Amino acid sequence: MGFSRNIIITGGAGFIGSHVVRLFVNRYPGYRIVNVDKLTYAGNLANLKDIEGKPNYVFEKADICDFDAMLAIIRKYNADGIIHLAAESHVDRSIRDPFSFAGTNVMGTLSLLQAAMTAWEPLGWKISHTPGAAPVPCLFYHISTDEVYGALELTCPEGKKSGISGGMAYGDRLFTEETAYRPHSPYSASKAASDHFVRAFHDTYGMPVIVTNCSNNYGPYQFPEKLIPLFINNIRYGRPLPVYGNGENVRDWLYVEDHARAIDMIFHRGRPAETYNIGGFNEWKNIDLVRLLIRVVDRKLGRSEGCSDSLITFVPDRKGHDVRYAIDSRKLRRELGWTPSLQFEEGLEKTVDWYLSNQEWMDNVTSGDYMKYYEEMYNL
Ligand code: NAD
Ligand code: DAU
Repeated sequence: MGFSRNIIITGGAGFIGSHVVRLFVNRYPGYRIVNVDKLTYAGNLANLKDIEGKPNYVFEKADICDFDAMLAIIRKYNADGIIHLAAESHVDRSIRDPFSFAGTNVMGTLSLLQAAMTAWEPLGWKISHTPGAAPVPCLFYHISTDEVYGALELTCPEGKKSGISGGMAYGDRLFTEETAYRPHSPYSASKAASDHFVRAFHDTYGMPVIVTNCSNNYGPYQFPEKLIPLFINNIRYGRPLPVYGNGENVRDWLYVEDHARAIDMIFHRGRPAETYNIGGFNEWKNIDLVRLLIRVVDRKLGRSEGCSDSLITFVPDRKGHDVRYAIDSRKLRRELGWTPSLQFEEGLEKTVDWYLSNQEWMDNVTSGDYMKYYEEMYNL
């Protein structure tokens, strides 16, 4: 079968990547979707069980740091688009092992960029799939994070109604696309460096690129080292809930399928060379989120709501812990009409339902090395 587009999605076996792969495979049967993933501890093909047999889906196990492998895959599939999500993504791991973050996030992105340039530049950044049809413009779409902007001040610790979204805001400023980069953790420093390389490939070689910076995602298939799935699992088993510092840090949460939908819109209709911020307009203090999560999980497990509050355990703060993230995604709303579709309470209910009814998935990903990581990390 001839495909109208061949799109590589890196990191497609991870949390967000698996939602993006699923969306593209189901929504665009005329596209071939090539999932390129090294399958690190965070990559799991079980995340894609429902689409693995589809005729427009292919999996390639490969390391983005391997330039030859990347070039071979781009050429093998005559790829015209790359949506790049593969990364080391957990801040706590970056604090313990910054080298692997520089390796994957910086050098891996660079090797993928160089491979795309080697394949695409001689073709004038356009790929022909069908004789006689107009060639498709190439696009390197890099998925980044709000953490590159650093931390916002907590100027309203009690929270106030946001003038933009009507939801809660804990400060006056938001990250916009013009906010200067000021990363603090090795993770965010490595993502910032990769963003700079992507833009440099546009400015230097004319590569068509887009960068998006998104806030905290939550939803099904997230590896339980991250706050929400870790705490759902711990509540279920009655384990301590390690809240860093005083729990006053603020994050802006977005349901993962809303992020995947934004990526789809931007991939198809975003302006090359532009940056788009993606966020939920949904700020929560960690401690308030944890209390809400406890109520939801307790209720769904048939316990009295709030009985797991006693599991909350304040532990020493994360080193360099950014106080507040909050994204201004009005550019995306204005230009492409995107808005988050789910209220947080609704998204959290769906998320808890998913984890509680997919215990086998959870048990599989928490077997092996996971408990070693958990015990070393938390010592609880
Ligand atoms: P994840 O850790 O769940 O998944 C990362 C995936 O990349 C895994 O499947 C892993 O196997 C793969 N991978 C890692 N190193 C690789 C390599 N060298 N070669 C090929 N594949 C490799 O991450 P996630 O949370 O889904 O994040 C995906 C992307 O989105 C990352 O770039 C991250 O920085 C960005 N992001 C994440 C969030 C969030 O809240 N999770 C928010 C904004 C941006
Ligand atoms: O903002 C986008 C970023 O969101 C992404 O770029 C990262 O890939 C993703 O991991 C996420 O980073 P955070 O560090 O914000 O997510 P995490 O789930 O690790 O932590 C959320 C908040 O909860 C943070 O303030 C730290 C706190 N926390 C986290 C864990 C794991 C705790 O208090 N206890 C914990 O055990």
